[in-house]
Amino acid sequence: MKIMSVVGARPNFMKIAPFVHALASHNARGGCLEHVLVHTGQHYDQCMSASFFEALDIPRPDIDLDVGSGSHAEQVGRTMIALEKTVLDGRPDWIVVVGDVNATCAGALVAKKEHLKLAHIEAGLRSFDMDMPEEINRMVTDRLSDLLLTPDVISSENLRKEGTPDERINMVGNIMIDTLEAHREAAARLDIAQVIHNNRLFPDQARLSAPPLGRIFNFDFQLSPYAALTLHRPSNVDRRDVLAPLMRYVMREIAAEMPVVWPIHPRTKKQLEIFGLWEEVIACDGLVLLQPVGYREMLRLTMGAAVMLTDSGGLQEECCVLGTPCLTLRATTERPVTLREHGGTSVLVGNSVERMREAYAKAKSAGRRLFRPPLWDGKTAGRIVAALAGTG
Ligand code: UD1
Repeated sequence: MKIMSVVGARPNFMKIAPFVHALASHNARGGCLEHVLVHTGQHYDQCMSASFFEALDIPRPDIDLDVGSGSHAEQVGRTMIALEKTVLDGRPDWIVVVGDVNATCAGALVAKKEHLKLAHIEAGLRSFDMDMPEEINRMVTDRLSDLLLTPDVISSENLRKEGTPDERINMVGNIMIDTLEAHREAAARLDIAQVIHNNRLFPDQARLSAPPLGRIFNFDFQLSPYAALTLHRPSNVDRRDVLAPLMRYVMREIAAEMPVVWPIHPRTKKQLEIFGLWEEVIACDGLVLLQPVGYREMLRLTMGAAVMLTDSGGLQEECCVLGTPCLTLRATTERPVTLREHGGTSVLVGNSVERMREAYAKAKSAGRRLFRPPLWDGKTAGRIVAALAGTG
Protein backbone atom coordinates (compact mmCIF):
# COMPACT_ATOMS: atom_id res chain seq x y z
CA MET A 1 0.00 0.00 0.00
CA LYS A 2 1.31 3.43 -0.90
CA ILE A 3 0.77 6.45 1.34
CA MET A 4 1.51 10.04 0.37
CA SER A 5 1.67 12.59 3.21
CA VAL A 6 1.39 16.29 2.56
CA VAL A 7 2.90 18.93 4.87
CA GLY A 8 3.47 22.63 4.34
CA ALA A 9 3.77 24.77 7.45
CA ARG A 10 5.64 24.67 10.74
CA PRO A 11 2.88 23.15 12.91
CA ASN A 12 2.58 20.25 10.41
CA PHE A 13 6.15 19.13 10.99
CA MET A 14 5.64 18.22 14.67
CA LYS A 15 2.63 16.14 13.61
CA ILE A 16 4.20 14.28 10.71
CA ALA A 17 7.46 13.34 12.50
CA PRO A 18 5.96 10.62 14.76
CA PHE A 19 3.90 9.29 11.85
CA VAL A 20 7.00 8.90 9.65
CA HIS A 21 8.84 7.15 12.48
CA ALA A 22 5.89 4.85 13.25
CA LEU A 23 5.69 3.87 9.55
CA ALA A 24 9.40 3.00 9.62
CA SER A 25 8.97 0.80 12.71
CA HIS A 26 5.91 -0.85 11.17
CA ASN A 27 7.97 -1.74 8.09
CA ALA A 28 10.92 -2.86 10.23
CA ARG A 29 8.53 -5.37 11.83
CA GLY A 30 7.63 -6.80 8.42
CA GLY A 31 4.95 -4.34 7.29
CA CYS A 32 5.00 -2.93 3.78
CA LEU A 33 3.65 0.59 3.75
CA GLU A 34 5.40 2.61 1.09
CA HIS A 35 5.62 6.30 1.99
CA VAL A 36 6.15 9.46 -0.03
CA LEU A 37 6.56 12.75 1.85
CA VAL A 38 5.50 15.92 0.02
CA HIS A 39 6.42 19.40 1.32
CA THR A 40 4.31 22.10 -0.31
CA GLY A 41 6.84 24.81 0.59
CA GLN A 42 4.29 27.08 2.33
CA HIS A 43 6.94 27.66 5.01
CA TYR A 44 10.39 27.86 3.53
CA ASP A 45 12.71 29.85 5.85
CA GLN A 46 15.40 27.71 7.48
CA CYS A 47 14.04 28.56 10.92
CA MET A 48 10.41 27.81 9.93
CA SER A 49 11.04 24.57 8.06
CA ALA A 50 14.43 22.86 7.53
CA SER A 51 15.49 23.28 11.16
CA PHE A 52 12.38 21.31 12.20
CA PHE A 53 13.13 18.51 9.75
CA GLU A 54 16.61 18.23 11.24
CA ALA A 55 15.61 18.49 14.91
CA LEU A 56 12.67 16.09 14.56
CA ASP A 57 14.65 13.67 12.43
CA ILE A 58 12.21 13.80 9.53
CA PRO A 59 13.78 12.55 6.30
CA ARG A 60 14.14 15.11 3.53
CA PRO A 61 10.85 15.43 1.64
CA ASP A 62 10.69 13.20 -1.42
CA ILE A 63 9.00 16.03 -3.29
CA ASP A 64 9.12 19.79 -2.67
CA LEU A 65 6.42 21.80 -4.41
CA ASP A 66 8.01 25.13 -3.51
CA VAL A 67 4.74 27.12 -3.50
CA GLY A 68 5.98 29.80 -1.07
CA SER A 69 3.97 32.69 0.41
CA GLY A 70 0.97 34.41 -1.12
CA SER A 71 -2.73 35.00 -0.58
CA HIS A 72 -4.83 32.03 0.54
CA ALA A 73 -6.12 31.44 -2.98
CA GLU A 74 -2.60 31.64 -4.37
CA GLN A 75 -1.22 29.19 -1.81
CA VAL A 76 -4.08 26.70 -2.12
CA GLY A 77 -4.25 27.07 -5.91
CA ARG A 78 -0.51 26.69 -6.51
CA THR A 79 -0.39 23.70 -4.16
CA MET A 80 -3.30 22.00 -5.92
CA ILE A 81 -1.81 22.47 -9.38
CA ALA A 82 1.57 21.10 -8.34
CA LEU A 83 0.19 18.33 -6.14
CA GLU A 84 -2.19 17.07 -8.82
CA LYS A 85 0.80 16.35 -11.09
CA THR A 86 2.63 14.62 -8.23
CA VAL A 87 -0.38 12.47 -7.41
CA LEU A 88 -0.96 11.51 -11.05
CA ASP A 89 2.70 10.47 -11.32
CA GLY A 90 2.80 8.60 -7.99
CA ARG A 91 -0.77 7.20 -7.73
CA PRO A 92 -0.84 6.61 -3.95
CA ASP A 93 -3.63 4.60 -2.32
CA TRP A 94 -3.98 7.05 0.56
CA ILE A 95 -3.25 10.73 1.00
CA VAL A 96 -2.59 11.72 4.60
CA VAL A 97 -2.96 15.37 5.65
CA VAL A 98 -2.35 16.88 9.08
CA GLY A 99 -3.68 19.87 10.99
CA ASP A 100 -5.46 22.82 9.43
CA VAL A 101 -3.11 24.88 7.29
CA ASN A 102 -3.54 25.72 3.61
CA ALA A 103 -1.45 22.67 2.63
CA THR A 104 -3.97 20.47 4.49
CA CYS A 105 -6.97 21.79 2.60
CA ALA A 106 -5.21 21.74 -0.79
CA GLY A 107 -4.06 18.15 -0.19
CA ALA A 108 -7.60 17.09 0.71
CA LEU A 109 -9.13 18.66 -2.39
CA VAL A 110 -6.61 17.04 -4.72
CA ALA A 111 -7.01 13.64 -3.05
CA LYS A 112 -10.77 13.53 -3.50
CA LYS A 113 -10.78 15.01 -6.99
CA GLU A 114 -8.41 12.20 -7.95
CA HIS A 115 -10.69 9.65 -6.20
CA LEU A 116 -8.03 8.68 -3.66
CA LYS A 117 -8.65 7.76 -0.06
CA LEU A 118 -7.99 10.58 2.38
CA ALA A 119 -6.96 10.42 6.04
CA HIS A 120 -6.91 13.50 8.27
CA ILE A 121 -4.73 13.54 11.36
CA GLU A 122 -6.15 15.99 13.94
CA ALA A 123 -9.69 15.81 12.59
CA GLY A 124 -12.78 17.24 14.25
CA LEU A 125 -11.34 20.41 15.78
CA ARG A 126 -13.81 23.29 15.55
CA SER A 127 -13.54 26.88 16.75
CA PHE A 128 -16.92 27.70 15.18
CA ASP A 129 -15.29 30.90 13.97
CA MET A 130 -15.52 31.09 10.21
CA ASP A 131 -13.27 34.18 10.17
CA MET A 132 -10.36 31.86 10.90
CA PRO A 133 -8.80 30.54 7.69
CA GLU A 134 -7.94 27.37 9.58
CA GLU A 135 -11.62 26.70 10.40
CA ILE A 136 -12.43 26.64 6.70
CA ASN A 137 -9.49 24.31 6.10
CA ARG A 138 -10.67 21.98 8.88
CA MET A 139 -14.28 21.83 7.69
CA VAL A 140 -13.39 21.20 4.04
CA THR A 141 -10.79 18.58 4.95
CA ASP A 142 -13.04 16.71 7.38
CA ARG A 143 -16.00 16.73 5.01
CA LEU A 144 -13.83 15.05 2.37
CA SER A 145 -11.95 12.58 4.59
CA ASP A 146 -12.51 8.83 4.62
CA LEU A 147 -10.61 8.31 7.86
CA LEU A 148 -10.94 11.01 10.54
CA LEU A 149 -8.29 10.57 13.22
CA THR A 150 -9.32 12.70 16.17
CA PRO A 151 -7.31 13.81 19.21
CA ASP A 152 -10.09 13.84 21.82
CA VAL A 153 -13.74 13.07 22.54
CA ILE A 154 -14.94 16.62 21.87
CA SER A 155 -13.53 16.49 18.33
CA SER A 156 -15.14 13.09 17.66
CA GLU A 157 -18.44 14.49 18.92
CA ASN A 158 -18.15 17.55 16.63
CA LEU A 159 -17.87 15.22 13.66
CA ARG A 160 -20.86 13.11 14.74
CA LYS A 161 -22.96 16.25 15.10
CA GLU A 162 -22.04 17.18 11.51
CA GLY A 163 -23.26 13.80 10.33
CA THR A 164 -19.93 12.02 9.81
CA PRO A 165 -20.59 8.26 9.94
CA ASP A 166 -19.20 6.62 13.07
CA GLU A 167 -17.14 4.10 11.13
CA ARG A 168 -15.01 6.91 9.67
CA ILE A 169 -14.13 8.40 13.06
CA ASN A 170 -11.22 6.98 15.04
CA MET A 171 -10.10 8.69 18.24
CA VAL A 172 -6.36 8.08 18.32
CA GLY A 173 -5.15 10.83 20.67
CA ASN A 174 -2.92 13.82 20.06
CA ILE A 175 0.05 13.15 17.80
CA MET A 176 1.75 16.40 18.89
CA ILE A 177 2.21 14.83 22.29
CA ASP A 178 4.17 11.95 20.71
CA THR A 179 6.71 14.55 19.59
CA LEU A 180 6.65 16.29 22.95
CA GLU A 181 7.33 13.04 24.81
CA ALA A 182 10.10 12.06 22.39
CA HIS A 183 11.94 15.36 22.99
CA ARG A 184 10.99 16.21 26.56
CA GLU A 185 14.16 14.94 28.24
CA ALA A 186 16.54 16.46 25.72
CA ALA A 187 14.67 19.76 25.93
CA ALA A 188 14.83 19.74 29.73
CA ARG A 189 18.63 19.51 29.51
CA LEU A 190 18.87 22.74 27.48
CA ASP A 191 20.05 25.82 29.30
CA ILE A 192 17.44 28.56 28.87
CA ALA A 193 19.98 31.40 28.89
CA GLN A 194 21.87 29.59 26.15
CA VAL A 195 18.70 29.14 24.08
CA ILE A 196 18.08 32.87 24.40
CA HIS A 197 21.69 33.76 23.64
CA ASN A 198 21.73 31.56 20.51
CA ASN A 199 18.49 32.95 19.12
CA ARG A 200 18.51 36.66 20.00
CA LEU A 201 17.25 38.83 17.22
CA PHE A 202 19.82 41.48 18.13
CA PRO A 203 22.87 39.59 19.36
CA ASP A 204 24.75 42.85 19.88
CA GLN A 205 22.02 44.36 22.05
CA ALA A 206 24.26 43.81 25.09
CA ARG A 207 26.55 46.55 23.91
CA LEU A 208 23.69 49.04 23.85
CA SER A 209 22.64 47.91 27.27
CA ALA A 210 21.02 50.57 29.43
CA PRO A 211 20.67 49.51 33.08
CA PRO A 212 17.19 47.91 32.68
CA LEU A 213 18.43 45.85 29.74
CA GLY A 214 21.42 44.88 31.85
CA ARG A 215 18.80 43.50 34.20
CA ILE A 216 17.85 40.99 31.47
CA PHE A 217 21.45 40.04 30.78
CA ASN A 218 22.06 39.23 34.44
CA PHE A 219 18.72 37.53 34.80
CA ASP A 220 18.69 33.89 35.91
CA PHE A 221 16.13 32.35 33.53
CA GLN A 222 16.63 28.94 35.13
CA LEU A 223 15.47 30.17 38.55
CA SER A 224 13.45 33.36 38.21
CA PRO A 225 10.03 33.71 36.61
CA TYR A 226 9.75 34.82 33.02
CA ALA A 227 6.87 34.94 30.55
CA ALA A 228 6.87 33.60 26.99
CA LEU A 229 4.94 35.15 24.12
CA THR A 230 4.03 34.01 20.61
CA LEU A 231 1.74 35.87 18.24
CA HIS A 232 0.91 35.38 14.60
CA ARG A 233 -2.85 35.04 13.97
CA PRO A 234 -4.34 37.51 11.50
CA SER A 235 -6.98 38.36 14.15
CA ASN A 236 -4.19 39.72 16.40
CA VAL A 237 -1.55 41.06 14.05
CA ASP A 238 -3.33 42.32 10.94
CA ARG A 239 -4.95 45.41 12.50
CA ARG A 240 -3.05 48.21 14.18
CA ASP A 241 -5.95 49.04 16.53
CA VAL A 242 -5.74 45.46 17.87
CA LEU A 243 -1.99 44.89 17.83
CA ALA A 244 -0.94 48.25 19.36
CA PRO A 245 -2.93 48.00 22.64
CA LEU A 246 -2.04 44.33 22.99
CA MET A 247 1.68 45.09 22.60
CA ARG A 248 1.53 48.09 24.91
CA TYR A 249 -0.15 46.02 27.62
CA VAL A 250 2.55 43.34 27.36
CA MET A 251 5.36 45.93 27.33
CA ARG A 252 4.06 48.22 30.07
CA GLU A 253 2.61 45.69 32.49
CA ILE A 254 4.06 42.21 32.01
CA ALA A 255 7.53 43.09 30.73
CA ALA A 256 7.84 45.65 33.53
CA GLU A 257 7.45 42.81 36.01
CA MET A 258 9.28 39.87 34.43
CA PRO A 259 11.18 39.37 31.16
CA VAL A 260 8.96 38.39 28.25
CA VAL A 261 10.75 36.02 25.88
CA TRP A 262 9.28 36.42 22.43
CA PRO A 263 10.25 34.37 19.36
CA ILE A 264 8.81 36.55 16.62
CA HIS A 265 6.94 35.06 13.66
CA PRO A 266 8.00 36.64 10.34
CA ARG A 267 4.44 37.74 9.66
CA THR A 268 4.21 39.59 13.00
CA LYS A 269 7.54 41.34 12.52
CA LYS A 270 6.38 42.51 9.11
CA GLN A 271 3.11 43.85 10.55
CA LEU A 272 4.87 45.68 13.41
CA GLU A 273 7.09 47.38 10.86
CA ILE A 274 4.12 48.32 8.63
CA PHE A 275 2.24 49.78 11.63
CA GLY A 276 5.28 51.78 12.83
CA LEU A 277 5.41 49.82 16.11
CA TRP A 278 8.72 48.04 15.59
CA GLU A 279 10.91 50.79 17.09
CA GLU A 280 8.76 50.83 20.22
CA VAL A 281 9.05 47.06 20.53
CA ILE A 282 12.81 46.89 20.16
CA ALA A 283 13.23 49.73 22.64
CA CYS A 284 11.33 47.85 25.36
CA ASP A 285 13.85 46.62 27.93
CA GLY A 286 11.77 43.75 29.28
CA LEU A 287 11.12 42.15 25.90
CA VAL A 288 13.64 39.51 24.90
CA LEU A 289 13.23 39.30 21.14
CA LEU A 290 14.21 36.05 19.45
CA GLN A 291 14.04 34.79 15.91
CA PRO A 292 11.67 31.80 15.47
CA VAL A 293 13.26 29.05 17.57
CA GLY A 294 13.61 25.31 17.00
CA TYR A 295 11.25 22.69 18.40
CA ARG A 296 13.28 21.67 21.45
CA GLU A 297 14.19 25.25 22.22
CA MET A 298 10.51 26.26 22.25
CA LEU A 299 9.69 23.25 24.39
CA ARG A 300 12.38 24.33 26.88
CA LEU A 301 11.06 27.90 26.96
CA THR A 302 7.51 26.61 27.51
CA MET A 303 8.58 24.23 30.30
CA GLY A 304 10.35 27.00 32.14
CA ALA A 305 7.87 29.85 31.66
CA ALA A 306 5.83 31.08 34.61
CA VAL A 307 3.17 32.05 32.10
CA MET A 308 2.66 31.64 28.36
CA LEU A 309 0.82 34.19 26.23
CA THR A 310 0.00 32.76 22.83
CA ASP A 311 -2.40 32.53 19.94
CA SER A 312 -0.92 29.21 18.77
CA GLY A 313 -3.08 26.09 18.97
CA GLY A 314 -0.17 23.71 19.49
CA LEU A 315 1.20 25.70 22.41
CA GLN A 316 -2.17 25.55 24.19
CA GLU A 317 -1.85 21.76 24.08
CA GLU A 318 1.80 21.67 25.06
CA CYS A 319 1.18 24.02 28.01
CA CYS A 320 -1.52 21.63 29.20
CA VAL A 321 0.75 18.60 29.31
CA LEU A 322 3.67 20.62 30.74
CA GLY A 323 1.47 22.40 33.30
CA THR A 324 2.34 25.93 32.14
CA PRO A 325 -0.45 28.49 32.73
CA CYS A 326 -1.51 29.75 29.32
CA LEU A 327 -3.28 32.96 28.33
CA THR A 328 -4.75 32.18 24.94
CA LEU A 329 -4.95 35.42 22.97
CA ARG A 330 -8.04 34.40 21.04
CA ALA A 331 -11.79 34.72 21.42
CA THR A 332 -12.42 31.07 20.58
CA THR A 333 -10.46 27.86 20.50
CA GLU A 334 -10.79 24.68 18.47
CA ARG A 335 -9.06 22.93 21.38
CA PRO A 336 -11.55 23.33 24.27
CA VAL A 337 -10.06 20.30 25.99
CA THR A 338 -7.09 22.53 26.93
CA LEU A 339 -9.26 25.07 28.79
CA ARG A 340 -9.26 25.33 32.58
CA GLU A 341 -12.94 24.34 32.71
CA HIS A 342 -11.99 21.01 31.14
CA GLY A 343 -8.99 20.55 33.47
CA GLY A 344 -6.36 22.21 31.26
CA THR A 345 -4.22 25.31 31.81
CA SER A 346 -5.52 27.66 29.12
CA VAL A 347 -7.79 30.69 29.54
CA LEU A 348 -9.30 32.49 26.56
CA VAL A 349 -8.60 36.22 26.82
CA GLY A 350 -9.22 37.32 23.23
CA ASN A 351 -7.38 40.56 22.64
CA SER A 352 -9.04 42.36 25.54
CA VAL A 353 -6.50 44.02 27.81
CA GLU A 354 -8.93 43.80 30.75
CA ARG A 355 -9.23 40.02 30.41
CA MET A 356 -5.49 39.62 29.94
CA ARG A 357 -4.80 41.62 33.09
CA GLU A 358 -7.21 39.53 35.14
CA ALA A 359 -6.04 36.18 33.74
CA TYR A 360 -2.37 37.12 34.14
CA ALA A 361 -2.89 37.90 37.83
CA LYS A 362 -4.67 34.56 38.34
CA ALA A 363 -2.08 32.63 36.32
CA LYS A 364 0.76 33.93 38.50
CA SER A 365 -0.94 32.83 41.69
CA ALA A 366 -2.33 29.53 40.29
CA GLY A 367 1.09 28.04 39.50
CA ARG A 368 1.62 24.90 37.45
CA ARG A 369 -1.04 22.22 36.98
CA LEU A 370 -0.42 19.23 34.73
CA PHE A 371 -3.27 17.80 32.67
CA ARG A 372 -3.21 14.92 30.21
CA PRO A 373 -6.42 14.12 28.31
CA PRO A 374 -7.07 10.45 27.43
CA LEU A 375 -4.72 9.03 24.76
CA TRP A 376 -2.35 12.00 24.89
CA ASP A 377 0.19 9.37 25.81
CA GLY A 378 2.91 9.60 23.16
CA LYS A 379 1.59 6.53 21.30
CA THR A 380 -0.83 8.14 18.85
CA ALA A 381 1.25 7.62 15.69
CA GLY A 382 1.34 3.84 16.25
CA ARG A 383 -2.47 3.81 16.46
CA ILE A 384 -2.70 5.80 13.22
CA VAL A 385 -0.39 3.46 11.34
CA ALA A 386 -2.35 0.46 12.66
CA ALA A 387 -5.60 2.08 11.47
CA LEU A 388 -4.19 2.68 7.98
CA ALA A 389 -2.54 -0.74 7.73
CA GLY A 390 -5.88 -2.29 8.69
CA THR A 391 -7.47 -0.83 5.56
CA GLY A 392 -4.98 -2.47 3.18
C1 UD1 B 1 0.32 29.41 8.83
C2 UD1 B 1 -1.01 28.70 9.05
C3 UD1 B 1 -1.38 28.80 10.53
C4 UD1 B 1 -0.26 28.31 11.42
C5 UD1 B 1 1.01 29.08 11.07
C6 UD1 B 1 2.21 28.70 11.89
C7 UD1 B 1 -2.61 28.79 7.19
C8 UD1 B 1 -3.90 29.34 6.74
N1 UD1 B 1 -2.09 29.32 8.31
O1 UD1 B 1 0.15 30.78 9.11
O2 UD1 B 1 -2.53 28.01 10.76
O3 UD1 B 1 -0.61 28.50 12.77
O4 UD1 B 1 1.30 28.84 9.69
O5 UD1 B 1 3.27 29.50 11.52
O6 UD1 B 1 -2.09 27.89 6.57
N2 UD1 B 1 6.82 33.89 6.02
C9 UD1 B 1 8.19 33.96 5.96
N3 UD1 B 1 8.89 32.78 5.93
C10 UD1 B 1 8.28 31.58 5.94
C11 UD1 B 1 6.89 31.53 5.99
C12 UD1 B 1 6.17 32.68 6.04
O7 UD1 B 1 8.76 35.03 5.96
O8 UD1 B 1 8.99 30.54 5.91
C13 UD1 B 1 6.06 35.14 6.10
C14 UD1 B 1 5.61 35.62 4.73
O9 UD1 B 1 5.63 37.00 4.73
C15 UD1 B 1 4.18 35.14 4.69
C16 UD1 B 1 3.75 35.26 6.14
O10 UD1 B 1 4.91 34.93 6.89
O11 UD1 B 1 3.39 35.88 3.81
C17 UD1 B 1 2.61 34.37 6.53
O12 UD1 B 1 2.92 33.02 6.18
P1 UD1 B 1 1.73 31.99 5.81
O13 UD1 B 1 2.31 30.66 5.52
O14 UD1 B 1 0.85 32.59 4.77
O15 UD1 B 1 0.84 31.93 7.10
P2 UD1 B 1 1.21 31.86 8.66
O16 UD1 B 1 0.83 33.14 9.28
O17 UD1 B 1 2.61 31.36 8.91
